[in-house]
Amino acid sequence: MPMMNSFGLLKQYIEGSFHKPTSEETFDPKVHLNYTPPSKKFTMQDLLLNQSPTASPIAGTVPFPLLSVKGVKAYRKALFQKKVIDNCASSPFPGTLVLRDAVKQSKFVNDFWTNPETMRIVSEAAGVPLEVVMPTEIGHTNIQVEGTTVAEMTSNLKAEPVLGKVELSSEDRTYNPLKDASAIIPWHYDSYPYVCVLMLSDTEGMIGGETYIKRGDGEVQKIEGPQIGHAVMLQGGEVCHLAARAKGVKERISSITSYRSTLPNVYDSSYITNVRPYADTGSLYPEWTQYRLRKLRDELTYYLDKTEKGGDPGQERKTVQALINQQIDYLRRTSRQMVDPEFTQQVLRKYGRPSYYDAPRIWETVRSLPEIDSLALVTNEERRWQPGSVYWTDLLGSIKRIQAGKPLQSVLGTAVWDKTRAYYMGDELLRQGLNEIFLDWLGYSGIWELYCSASLNET
Ligand SMILES: [Fe+2]
Repeated sequence: MPMMNSFGLLKQYIEGSFHKPTSEETFDPKVHLNYTPPSKKFTMQDLLLNQSPTASPIAGTVPFPLLSVKGVKAYRKALFQKKVIDNCASSPFPGTLVLRDAVKQSKFVNDFWTNPETMRIVSEAAGVPLEVVMPTEIGHTNIQVEGTTVAEMTSNLKAEPVLGKVELSSEDRTYNPLKDASAIIPWHYDSYPYVCVLMLSDTEGMIGGETYIKRGDGEVQKIEGPQIGHAVMLQGGEVCHLAARAKGVKERISSITSYRSTLPNVYDSSYITNVRPYADTGSLYPEWTQYRLRKLRDELTYYLDKTEKGGDPGQERKTVQALINQQIDYLRRTSRQMVDPEFTQQVLRKYGRPSYYDAPRIWETVRSLPEIDSLALVTNEERRWQPGSVYWTDLLGSIKRIQAGKPLQSVLGTAVWDKTRAYYMGDELLRQGLNEIFLDWLGYSGIWELYCSASLNET
């Protein structure tokens, strides 16, 4: 090799390795992980909850150490790079900054969550082998920090965790997330079956920040929030839970990754209702499609492999019909969840984002009004709202199942509908987690107006 060339290569190497400022570190499990298994796991049975025969018996874990001090700093440094902030930050709710799709900008964030060692840890904690649900759901980061605008909030983000405490008011000191309506996320089920929540802030002096789980007997179980570098695992798609607001600290940053189990024929509780209003549907929808179709393919392959080995021919017909029916429901949901993004945004502009998230409560309120039956029944019978749409076929299908006493799958889990209550389009759309379509139906049927005047009378 001529002298000049090798010198040129050497120069390039030196500049590349030492002189060029690298914006993020390379993930190394030996340096960045600091794992100790959770000291306690709660089973569904411990919480007196029904355990689905195809899901994990583990409902959740207490916090456990996951990232080392160096790991936390490297993760924060990776997240707060300019390109991540520029491409991933938004403020869907006042006072909260959200970073989504960070894996498309940060190799560190991607490599940490998808490293075989990390995958082994989260699977062990959940009690079943897990797979990340889709890349867009890796490291969804919620940030509470000083500032009101996105620019103000992002300017306060540093790789070094902020240690400062905030003076607590007497109101803060007596804060009870179960009584006050100010829980950061009210009672809910997650969009996906399993979730890992990783804490990236110092929680010294923090009040709140814990998770509460509703037990089968109606009692509430508290799980302490994780300290810095610690994580908790939760079967959030099957366990009704509430996240308490954190007070007394200058910042609270948590990063969340969602999973599904790779066991075949596992009921999958995923919906994208909660993320649809603010996610980039340009990446969410294609990833959702891939994940759903991959799961379908795996389950069909599993079935074919089993039957090719020879099974009981007498059972064959019933088994395959059950599988097909299950997959029809699964595919229908896969398709219905991908609402036209323009339609979603149009409804959000008209009715407001809070109404979207509040839709189940709005429906509960109007259902108790005397005029509801006539209004809802008229739209059910006349079918002038979105005539010929698939939702009318879905409604009929659900009514048939109710009449046959069969359970209905819904965003709130699987349950048998109380036959004494009429089943309307509003019920059908909320069952499917189609909150924007529900609001559109509510407006068309005149029930939205009724709701607005009823709320006005109350105040
Ligand atoms: Fe949750």
